[in-house]
Amino acid sequence: MRKKVSIVGAGNVGATTAHWLASKGLADVVLVDVIEGIPQGKALDLQEALPVEGVDVRVLGANDYSPTAGSDIVVITAGFPRKPGMSRDDLLKANAEIVGDATRNAVKLSPNAILIIVTNPLDAMCEVARRTSGFPRERVLGMAGVLDSARFCTFIAEELNVSVDNVHAFVLGGHGDQMVPLPRYSTVAGVPITELLDEATIERLVKRTANGGAEIVNLLKAGSAYYAPARSIAEMVDAILNDRHKVLPCAVYLQGEYGLRDLFIGVPAKLGAGGLEKVIQIKLTADEQAALAKSADAVKALVDALPQPAAAG
Ligand code: LAC
Repeated sequence: MRKKVSIVGAGNVGATTAHWLASKGLADVVLVDVIEGIPQGKALDLQEALPVEGVDVRVLGANDYSPTAGSDIVVITAGFPRKPGMSRDDLLKANAEIVGDATRNAVKLSPNAILIIVTNPLDAMCEVARRTSGFPRERVLGMAGVLDSARFCTFIAEELNVSVDNVHAFVLGGHGDQMVPLPRYSTVAGVPITELLDEATIERLVKRTANGGAEIVNLLKAGSAYYAPARSIAEMVDAILNDRHKVLPCAVYLQGEYGLRDLFIGVPAKLGAGGLEKVIQIKLTADEQAALAKSADAVKALVDALPQPAAAG
């Protein structure tokens, strides 16, 4: 039997994720959204592309969760983007409610699913999903690190005029301004970029990576990135459904690793059929550890500001 992935939120990120998953033939896909007709229309359109692509998966759109029953993975993308005049806390509260509802509805019908959270502010929304679902940490993951690393890779490849295939980039920390790109562990054909680029250039690429989401928002004006986020989600789905034991940077609920406890933050994680298989610990310099601690403080401040009902859930 084919695997099933449900995606909550049929906006740009959700629909583009459906596109990648279906075109790769990874799983049957259910697209859920509250807006009538949108998930159904996008799903049908995508379904009708698949004979041309030569792929046999089913793509279904719905306004309720019943078709999601028995999902192997539930991806939650639903939520508001930040609008002018909206504080970080306003966004936090509004999206905590949406992610809480989505999680509650989804896990009722898919109690064994692995959750991949995408809604911002990412690390805090992972915590909402964890509290609401009551799932063990192995089955609640956040997508941000694959995206942030892909952005870093893009800029490194461009700067050095090498194939993106040669570049591996490493980004730790929360998905926010305080993320921690790690040049020492970012390589071109195995050579650390610290051997290939001067400090000022690396600093420029690191800053551009941390501002990567905002750079797209500023260009699009109305809306945020979706092609790269969606492709990054598909990478995590592939690692899980195909039990690849693949090490990918993801938001994970830490239990003492990196000196952090009871907090979601981006770290290298081995993903396989059960979701999180292992948090990979790497040695950090004092500066890198301090940057990670600062990023963790920023995440913790958001988690502390979460509305109580979600916390009690
Ligand atoms: C980004 C937003 C979507 O990084 O978090 O593009």
